[in-house]
Amino acid sequence: MEPRDIDGDLTEILISEEQIHTRLAEMSRQIEADYAGKDLLLVGVLKGAVMVMADLARELHHPISMDWMAVSSYGSGTTSSGVVRILKDLDTDLTGRHVLIVEDIIDSGLTLSWLLANLNSRGPTSVEICALLRKPDAARVEINVKYAGFDIPNQFVVGYGLDYDEKYRNLRSVGVLAPHVYAPTGGAAAS
Ligand code: XMP
Ligand code: MG
Repeated sequence: MEPRDIDGDLTEILISEEQIHTRLAEMSRQIEADYAGKDLLLVGVLKGAVMVMADLARELHHPISMDWMAVSSYGSGTTSSGVVRILKDLDTDLTGRHVLIVEDIIDSGLTLSWLLANLNSRGPTSVEICALLRKPDAARVEINVKYAGFDIPNQFVVGYGLDYDEKYRNLRSVGVLAPHVYAPTGGAAAS
């Protein structure tokens, strides 16, 4: 889906499809070099990371395994509470594995900080993070992101897996959602 298909719902396109793919290719070269000769397990966080996972995995010239987790922050509204509930756990035993968490976006960092601790408690050899987007101005905890795609302003974005009310995930680019879409009654809730 292109921005013209949702005419007026975005205030701007932040990152084009081409920019995303160029950056994912750069990140893939880095990952290939860092994990040369090692087995790698990509752990995607549902649902937002589906597009990043699909494109990153196919861009990698490196054998990988893939698994998925679904988590949800307790609490309501647009900010995550940091208290996380597992909705779907991994099928894979992490003992001795090199794990790379694949995320769409790091906002406050609270969800990922919890996930990192959780996965680290399962006996992996390493756990690192790959996130397409990061909002430095929204960070509430320091997280070491080994592979970060783009730093973006503290605005609510949709597209390339990111949703508002389950919509816009199939937009090929990433854009800023126009306030009229979620105002005046509601906040932007996402997963
Ligand atoms: P935290 O704050 O814990 O949040 O880093 C991470 C999760 O919140 C969702 N999120 C967004 N979803 N547009 C979205 O569509 C956004 O701008 C946005 N910011 C955070 C997302 O699921 C992320 O994994
Ligand atoms: Mg997410």
